[in-house]
Amino acid sequence: MRARPARAYAYADTNRANRKVKDMSATADLRSEHVGVGRMLGIMDAMTRRAQSGEKLEHGDLAQTIEFLRVFVDQCHHAKEEKLLFPAIRAAKMTSVEKTIVTLLADHAQGREAVAQIASGAQRLAEGDECASIELADAMSGYTRLLHTHILREERDCFGAADRELPTAVQDELAAGYERIERDVVGEGVHEGFHALLDRLWLTYHV
Ligand SMILES: [Fe+2]
Ligand SMILES: [Fe+2]
Repeated sequence: MRARPARAYAYADTNRANRKVKDMSATADLRSEHVGVGRMLGIMDAMTRRAQSGEKLEHGDLAQTIEFLRVFVDQCHHAKEEKLLFPAIRAAKMTSVEKTIVTLLADHAQGREAVAQIASGAQRLAEGDECASIELADAMSGYTRLLHTHILREERDCFGAADRELPTAVQDELAAGYERIERDVVGEGVHEGFHALLDRLWLTYHV
């Protein structure tokens, strides 16, 4: 067992060098990804404000945002949690975390539904349906509220316990598994491309 200091959930931290540091704790990689997700949530909140004030959002920006939510957030980040971290916590019989895991899994499912609504709104907007703008703004703000709360809950009620209680060998296996998902599911260089996207949208929307 080993104790590691919990890292603050800080959206403003954009330093990718953090990922280069070989921290093999159970959740270091996931906490780092939360920073990227948090940046996207800030961008989406800014997009929502623009849509609510009647501005038409750029279809290309929306399409890339949806791609980020599907690939970076769901296929990569949520997959690491659902396929690796949560099963490891359950296998270690950390029963005090079980209720939290059930809630976190429900959040992931709700997030997928919200992304489908965002995609549907973006599609209708691209087809010239002006009414879709409000629907899109509602779906985006619902998603960001859900994810802000989810990340705080996950770091507070799940990650700390995993870092403290999972045996070192399991934590090291998890870190290797995260790298495998990133390489096999997401693909080489894709992660970096998403961070470049975050930088571009961050400047475009003056977050
Ligand atoms: Fe999660
Ligand atoms: Fe997460």
